Amino acid sequence: MNKIFLMVAVMFFAVVSIAQAQKFEGLAETPPMGWNSWNKFACDVNENLIKETADAMVSTGMKDDGYTYIVIDDCWHGERDSLGFIHANKERFPSGMKALVDYVHSKGLKFGIYSDAGWQTCGGKPGSRGREYQDAQTYASWGVDYLKYDWCNTEDLSAKGAYLTMRDALFEAGRPIVFSMCEWGTYNPWEWGEPIAHLWRTTGDIYSCFDCEYDHGDWSSWGVLQILDMQEGLRKYAGPGHWNDPDMMEVGNGMSTNEDQAHFSMWAMLAAPLIAGNDLRNMSDETKSILTNRDVIAVNQDPLGIQGFKYQMKDSVSVWFKPLKDNQWAVCFLNRSREEKKAEFDWEHEKVIDEINHLSPGFSKNEYSLINLWNKKDKTSTKNKLKANLKGHSVLMYRLEKKR
Ligand code: GLA
Repeated sequence: MNKIFLMVAVMFFAVVSIAQAQKFEGLAETPPMGWNSWNKFACDVNENLIKETADAMVSTGMKDDGYTYIVIDDCWHGERDSLGFIHANKERFPSGMKALVDYVHSKGLKFGIYSDAGWQTCGGKPGSRGREYQDAQTYASWGVDYLKYDWCNTEDLSAKGAYLTMRDALFEAGRPIVFSMCEWGTYNPWEWGEPIAHLWRTTGDIYSCFDCEYDHGDWSSWGVLQILDMQEGLRKYAGPGHWNDPDMMEVGNGMSTNEDQAHFSMWAMLAAPLIAGNDLRNMSDETKSILTNRDVIAVNQDPLGIQGFKYQMKDSVSVWFKPLKDNQWAVCFLNRSREEKKAEFDWEHEKVIDEINHLSPGFSKNEYSLINLWNKKDKTSTKNKLKANLKGHSVLMYRLEKKR
């Protein structure tokens, strides 16, 4: 009798504790910022790379600008041991993962790791399927702060179910961990992701080009403009604690300076996670100045957490607006063409309205100063019609400050 009572009590508490599992709140009130190994290094990761990247994050000033997470993507894995615990690859990570996490923490940074909801990762390493609770506990014991959770080799799994399971496993493990879903937008994660994760990929993989599709055979990766166009209709799903993720950045990975600036500006306008994907140890001055432009970062990190929207598109120039705190706005003119184009904007005659948040700059009655976020010298106001020449694949980006 006592035994039965005990069993019922255990089951009751198990059900109650599962029912109470939730995502950790308060971890990503603004879009996460950091670095991820995949875009530049793919499977060629090791502990020295991660340590040197953490050092570079500090010495370049990126840490002071808000970059926090050092995320190691696919292929860090060794084997599972006889009890099923996952270990880091011994040749590449001879000091073990815990020591590496400690090193990153000692620099005042946070550590992210990667796994997959299927039985293998996209790179063919052990996935977490059937081992979710055990892996979550391992990550927590290593001191991990961020998990990117991929979607290869998932066969007929339900995406919502699989991501819920890992969310619950992380919660159960007890260490607050940012949860980044990476199922490439396949099952509309924006519709069900908010209670599960802090960010979700909205598309397939990015490719380091401004305007291209890169064909891998049975899948494609996408240029900046292609990814930008795939964000249509998604802004209403993003906000503090739950972000649309148009993928990690390719700034510094081979595009022109104009293109990198445009890419970074648009990710800021989209309130996208700002996850650098280049070699931080060897950056050109141009790359560094783009990634550390505090004015553009402030647009991305604005506490309202409102994703920007496309207001207009004329002759290859699209005009984007993003509401900011204190009745300020960001505006970005993007020349999508390779050719130089003219941007013209007669503020007082434009009716810009954020229909979702019911906000409007009201240009017909309010005057704003325009602060150019890439060329600080250029100062003007919305009283004057804007006329500018925009080089191919470039942006003109302003913060609008209301005049009294
Ligand atoms: C998928 C993801 C990428 C990267 C690789 C790793 O393609 O979308 O971001 O994590 O897997 O194999």
